[in-house]
Amino acid sequence: MFLSAVRLPRLPSACAIRKSLSGLMSRHLYLDVEPPVYTGPRDRLDKDAFQKHLSVVAARVRPEKVGTFLKAAPLKEALLDLPKIRTVVPDDDGTNRLVLLRMGKESEIPAGALEFIRKEGSGFTNYDIDLKYDYWTAEEILHAFLPEELREGAPTGFAMVGHIAHLNLNSEYLPYKHIIGQLILDKNNRVETVVNKLNNINAQFRFFDMELLAGKPEYIVEHHESDCRFTFDFTKVYWNSRLHTEHERLVQTFMPEEVVADVMAGVGPFAVPAAKKGCAVLANDLNPESAKYLSINVTNNRVTDLVRVFCEDGREFIQKSIERVWNAPFDPYTGPKLSRVQEEKERKRIQKLQAEGKPVPAPTKAEVDPAHVRRRVSHFVMNLPDSAITFLDAFRGIIPEGDSELRKAYELMPMIHCHCFTRELEQDKAEADIRGRVEEKIGCSLTDEVSYHHVRSVAPSKEMYCISFRLPAEAAVRKA
Ligand SMILES: C[S@@+](CC[C@H](N)C(=O)[O-])C[C@H]1O[C@@H](n2cnc3c(N)ncnc32)[C@H](O)[C@@H]1O
Repeated sequence: MFLSAVRLPRLPSACAIRKSLSGLMSRHLYLDVEPPVYTGPRDRLDKDAFQKHLSVVAARVRPEKVGTFLKAAPLKEALLDLPKIRTVVPDDDGTNRLVLLRMGKESEIPAGALEFIRKEGSGFTNYDIDLKYDYWTAEEILHAFLPEELREGAPTGFAMVGHIAHLNLNSEYLPYKHIIGQLILDKNNRVETVVNKLNNINAQFRFFDMELLAGKPEYIVEHHESDCRFTFDFTKVYWNSRLHTEHERLVQTFMPEEVVADVMAGVGPFAVPAAKKGCAVLANDLNPESAKYLSINVTNNRVTDLVRVFCEDGREFIQKSIERVWNAPFDPYTGPKLSRVQEEKERKRIQKLQAEGKPVPAPTKAEVDPAHVRRRVSHFVMNLPDSAITFLDAFRGIIPEGDSELRKAYELMPMIHCHCFTRELEQDKAEADIRGRVEEKIGCSLTDEVSYHHVRSVAPSKEMYCISFRLPAEAAVRKA
C-alpha cells in the first residue's frame, strides 16, 4: 500500500452499516449496497457492469408529518441512511411523501418502528433504487474489480499537487494502473491528471520521473500552501506536499524583521511565506527550473521587494550571502503588508479621487532609515536532507575578522536549520549521530544553542530531522 495524503472516502457499505449497528439488529435486516462482483473484461473497466437494484420499504407520509418522522426515536435505526440517496422522496400520488426505510420487507421492520408508522403514517409501499457506477467510491469499485488475491493491500489513497493526483503503485497493481487512474479521475472533481511516480528520482534536483495514468498530460500546477500560491512544473522541480507542516513550523520561528537565506529553496515553500510575513529573503536553488518558478512565485505572491532569487551551487551561495546582504541591505521592516483586498480598496479610493478631479496624493515610499536597514542574515535554511550536512564546511570563515563593523553585526551568529536523514531510530542516538556529522563538517563543537526536530519517517529505517543550531563563532570567523 502506498502512503496517502488523500484517503478515498468510503461509503458505509453493507459491511460498514453492519459493523456500526452490530448487536442492535440482526444481519438480515440490512441492505447489501456493496458493488456487485465484477464479471466484465479485465483490460478495461466496463462501467455498465456496476449496477445494483434495491427494493426498500417506504412509509407513505403526509407532508406536514415528514419532520416528525425524521426525528422520531423509534425510527432512528429504521430510516434509510445512505450517502447520495435521499431519505424522503415524492410519492407518485403527487400529495404525500415517501420516507424510505432500510428494510427490504415490511416484516423486517422492528416492532417499535412499525407501531409508530402504523399510527402516524398513511401506509406502506415499495420503492426501487438503482445504484450505478457513479454511486460507489473509487475504493469500492477497485475492490470489486481486482482479483481476490489483490484486494487486501489495494491502493486506498493518493497525494495531491494542484490538479495532479500522484500514486506510487506497487508492482502487482501495475497491470491495473490505467484503471486505477481512471477511477481516481472519475471520482474526484479536483483531479484532472493522474500519474504514477516511477522509482527514478533525479539525483541532483530530487524530482521524480512519472507516467501518465489518466487525464490530461498537463504538469504545470497551481498549488496552495500557507496562504501562498505556488506554480511549478511537477515533472521538473521538487515538491512534497507532506512537508507543509515543516515549512510552516520553520517560518513561524522567523521574526518579520529578520533576513533569511534559503540555500536549497526549491520553488519557495519556505522563502515565499517567510517574505509574506515580512522577512527579507535570499532564495537560491541550483535547478534552473526551480529558480524560474521561484521567481514566478515571488511575483505572484507580491513579495518581489523582499525576495532576491539566485541559481547557484549552495556552497557558493552560503559563502556570498553575508557580503551580499551587507553590501546591498534590504529596507527595514515597516509592518504587515496590505492585503490584496486592502490594496484594491486603496486603488478604488484613488480612482474615485481622480474621477472627482481631486488631487491624488503622490505615492510615498516609506522613508528608509539607514540605521534600520537589514544587512545581517539571521537564518540559513538547508533542506536537502540527503546531503545538506556536507555543505556545512562552507560556513567556515564566512565572517571576516578584520571588518569590525560587519563583525560587530554578527556578535550574534546566524541560526542554521539543516535537514538531514539518519538511520538511527531512537531519538538520543539520532541526535548524537546528526550532531557528530555536523560538528565534523563545521570543524568545531556546537554551542549549547542546538535543537532537533523529527520531521517524518521516510522509510522503515530512515528518519528525517531538522537540526537547528547557532553557527559557532569559532568556525565562522575568518582569521585575518
Ligand atoms: C529536498 S528539495 C527542497 C526544496 C524546498 N526547500 C522544499 O522544501 O520544498 C532540495 C532542493 O535542493 C536543490 N539542490 C540540489 N542540489 C543543490 C545544490 N548543490 N545547491 C543548491 N540547491 C540544490 C534541488 O534542486 C531541490 O530543489
